[in-house]
Amino acid sequence: MNYIQSYISEHKDRFLNELIELLKIPSISADSNYKNDVLKTADTIKTSLKEAGCDVVEICKTEGYPIVYGEKIIDKNLPTILVYGHYDVQPPDPINLWDSPPFEPVIKKTDKHPDGAIFARGACDDKGQMYMHVKAMEFMMATNQLPCNVKFMIEGEEEVGSANLATFVKNNQEKLKNDVILISDTGMIANDVPSITTGLRGLSYVEVEVTGPNRDLHSGLYGGAVANPINVLTKMIASLHDENNHITIPGFYDKVEELSKEERAEMAKAPFNLDNYKKALNIETVYGEAGYTTNERNSIRPTLDVNGIWGGYTGEGAKTVIASKAYAKISMRLVPNQDWENITQLFKTHFENIAPKAVKVKVTPHHGGQGYVTPINSIGYKAASKAYQDTFGKTPIPQRSGGSIPIVALFEQELKSKTILMGFGLDSDAIHSPNEHFGIWNYLKGIETIPLFYKYFTELSK
Ligand code: BES
Ligand code: MN
Ligand code: MN
Repeated sequence: MNYIQSYISEHKDRFLNELIELLKIPSISADSNYKNDVLKTADTIKTSLKEAGCDVVEICKTEGYPIVYGEKIIDKNLPTILVYGHYDVQPPDPINLWDSPPFEPVIKKTDKHPDGAIFARGACDDKGQMYMHVKAMEFMMATNQLPCNVKFMIEGEEEVGSANLATFVKNNQEKLKNDVILISDTGMIANDVPSITTGLRGLSYVEVEVTGPNRDLHSGLYGGAVANPINVLTKMIASLHDENNHITIPGFYDKVEELSKEERAEMAKAPFNLDNYKKALNIETVYGEAGYTTNERNSIRPTLDVNGIWGGYTGEGAKTVIASKAYAKISMRLVPNQDWENITQLFKTHFENIAPKAVKVKVTPHHGGQGYVTPINSIGYKAASKAYQDTFGKTPIPQRSGGSIPIVALFEQELKSKTILMGFGLDSDAIHSPNEHFGIWNYLKGIETIPLFYKYFTELSK
C-alpha cells in the first residue's frame, strides 16, 4: 500500500460518515421550502474546507444561494487548481419510488457496486463527488504533500441553472484566477473501464403554453367545433421530429459540428454492450436519430425532449372537458458550436409559426448554456490521464458526455482556462432518479486519484 492508500484505509470510516452527515441535509435548490437546509449545507462545507486545511474560507453571498469559497496559496509561482462542485441537489420526487428515504442515507450492495454504495439524493450528484475533493485536500495537507495552490468554489444553484454563479465569476476574475479547473460532476464508463469526460452538451430549456378558448368547456357541447389546446399541443410537439427522428426546426442543425469518420471510429472503440444497455432499461429496442449509434445519439448529436406535459383533467375517474390551456416543458441538448440563445430563438419562432390560428402560444425560455469540449493534449488532460493510470492501472478513455454543466463554457470564456472533468460516477448510479447512489469504491478511488492529478499537473507545468 502506498502513502495515499494507507491514509484512506485508516480514515475510511470517518470519510464515509462525514459524507453521510452531509447527505442528510436536504439541500434542494429548486424548492424554497428547503432554503434553511441549503444554507446550512453551505455552512457545513465551509467548516469542512477549513478543517481540511484551507486558510481562507468564505461564504460569498449572491442574489440566490451562496458560493462557498476556500483557498490555500502556498507559493504564487506554483500553478493554481480551481476546484468547482455543487452542494445543491435535485428534488427527490417521486418519493414513493425510493426504497429508503432520500435523506436517510443507507449502504447497500449492488451488482455494479459489490463493495456497497451509499443511497441518498446527492450521493453521486454532486455531494459525494464534491466531497472527494475536500478529503483529497485533507490528505495532502495532513501529510504535507500539497504540491501547488488550490482554490475551491462550491455553488448551491447548479441544479437550477447557476444564474448567480455567472455574475460571481465575472466580478471575481482576479480572485478565481487559475491554471486549470477541476470538476468531479460527471461519470465514467465502468469501474474497470476508467474514462475522462472530454465534452458536455449545451442546453436550452423552454416552457410552452397553448391557449384555446377562454375557459374550460363541456367536451360534448363544444368538442369538434373549437381547438382543443391539448390536441393541438401534442400535434405540434409530434411535428418537431421527422420520420428519421431529425429535429424539424429550421436552422437547428446549421452550426452542428460534424465529426470526421476517424473521430467517429475512435469513439466507437469505447466498450459498449447494446444488449446490457437494453436489459438495464427493460426496453425492446433503442430509439433515436437515423444514421447514428446509441453512444453518438447521446453525446455528439443534439436532441429535443419533452420533460413534462400537462393540462385538462388528470384526477380520478373521468371528466368530460376541453381545457382552456395546455403546457409542456421542453429541453434541447446542444453540441459544440450551437449557440443556446440562438437555438432558443429558433425554437420560439418555429413554435409560433406552426401554431394554428385557433390557438395562442407563449414560449418562455428557462435557462441554458453552451456545450463544451476539452482537448486531450493539454497539460491538464495528460495529468489526469497519468493519475488514472496509477490508480486504475489502465489508461482512461476520453469520452464525451450527454449531460450538461452549462457553467463550464462560461469558465473558459471568463477565466481563460480549461476544465478537466474527472467524474467517478456510473450511468447506473441513478442521478436525478429515485434510489440515487454512489459506490464506496468509487468515492475512495476518487480521493486516491485526485492528489495524483495535483502532483502530475504541477510537474508537467514546470
Ligand atoms: N452533474 C450533472 C451533469 C452531468 C451528469 C454531466 C453526468 C455529465 C454526466 C449536473 O448536475 C446536471 O444535472 N446538469 C443538468 C443541467 C442543469 C442546468 C440543471 C443536466 O444535465 O440536466
Ligand atoms: Mn451535478
Ligand atoms: Mn444534476
